[in-house]
Amino acid sequence: MTHWSLLGRRVLAIGADLTALSRGALFGAALEQGQIERLADVTAETADLLLIDADAVDAEALASGLAAFAAQPTPPPTLLLGSRLPASLVRALLRLPVSDVLEAPFSDEDLQNAVYALLDAAGAQAAANQGARSRCWTIMGAVGGAGATTVAIETACALARRSRKDRSVCLVDLNLADGAMAAYLGATPAMGLISFGPAAERMDAALLAAFATPIGKGLDLLACPRDPLAFDEISREAVLRILEIACEAYDHVVVDMPRHRRAWSLEVLAGCDEVLIISELTVPALLAARSLSEEIEQALPTSARPRIVLNRLASRLFGAAPSLAEAERALQRKADGGVSSDWDAAAASVNLGGPISQHRPKSKIVRDIDALVDRIAGGDERRGAGAPRAA
Ligand SMILES: Nc1ncnc2c1ncn2[C@@H]1O[C@H](COP(=O)(O)OP(=O)(O)OP(=O)(O)O)[C@@H](O)[C@H]1O
Ligand SMILES: [Mg+2]
Repeated sequence: MTHWSLLGRRVLAIGADLTALSRGALFGAALEQGQIERLADVTAETADLLLIDADAVDAEALASGLAAFAAQPTPPPTLLLGSRLPASLVRALLRLPVSDVLEAPFSDEDLQNAVYALLDAAGAQAAANQGARSRCWTIMGAVGGAGATTVAIETACALARRSRKDRSVCLVDLNLADGAMAAYLGATPAMGLISFGPAAERMDAALLAAFATPIGKGLDLLACPRDPLAFDEISREAVLRILEIACEAYDHVVVDMPRHRRAWSLEVLAGCDEVLIISELTVPALLAARSLSEEIEQALPTSARPRIVLNRLASRLFGAAPSLAEAERALQRKADGGVSSDWDAAAASVNLGGPISQHRPKSKIVRDIDALVDRIAGGDERRGAGAPRAA
């Protein structure tokens, strides 16, 4: 199944004037008209697709242009259109990593299908070339205010610090109606999914890039502008599509997930590699963390067991707060990680707008989340130390 839309795709058309296609069969594409000479410099970085009308250009010049084009390190996928296609041309085309031929006359649908198939093939090849598979971690609060958004932001920052790449980590705020992540980061949420309607379900990498707000080196944010109707108006398909494309574009995707179950919640959880349930050290929160974890384990028995992370741990526990041992008794399992309390750093960061690791890099919150990320990313501590799953 293809998922591609052509919104914002850069198509270089060589030959007859094909720009009218951007208002018809290739609606939404950014179509540029060029001469055969452009074959010498067009790459996958400057065009998403090359469209050639072979009937409108000299066959010999085109064959030698294509030979030079094929020698480039990253030629974009190429579609050759025409009614008379000499063998030399087809042979030149076969040297390209992703190419196809469409014999004229053809319908709009034929053209669309050929274009989508080429973009899909190019996307799959780019993902394969990238090698390592993307990792998706989902973070949920056991109760409101437990610190899920804070932990998600600092986790994403910790992952971005470990990478040298430009677009390595993507934070996705799935609190679609009133997510706080953009405000915590002092950023503008740009994922206007509602205005796209059903087109959001066919989102592609170019559109996702337009929706992303850069936060810092290697870190982008996908968050929706506040809208009370967002949970009703943004479809399950659109949410899953966002995550699918984000996982193709970034090495790590960190999802801030609402704890109330939505039509897409289980599929999001099933598709991710880690689920972190954030609890605070109160009896109701610990009981909720245990229940939430059990619900997920029962619904997704073959997925990884959620990890429970205790947030806002004080170095000295005063008064009625449960000790760690008492907390683990309430959880009926060991906690998978802990994050110290540091109200000053947390407040400074949200008030200034930006991660704690930026405004208070020496905070214990940053140190503890770094250690947690090291353990999970390094895979040196297997979840639950073999603890049995809830029945
Ligand atoms: N380790 C911590 N130490 C001190 N304050 C913290 C810590 N973690 C989070 N906070 C603060 O606790 C408050 C709630 O945190 P946050 O918004 O991250 O929780 P949440 O689980 O995402 O809440 P919601 O249920 O509203 O989405 C914020 O003011 C945040 O700055
Ligand atoms: Mg939150």
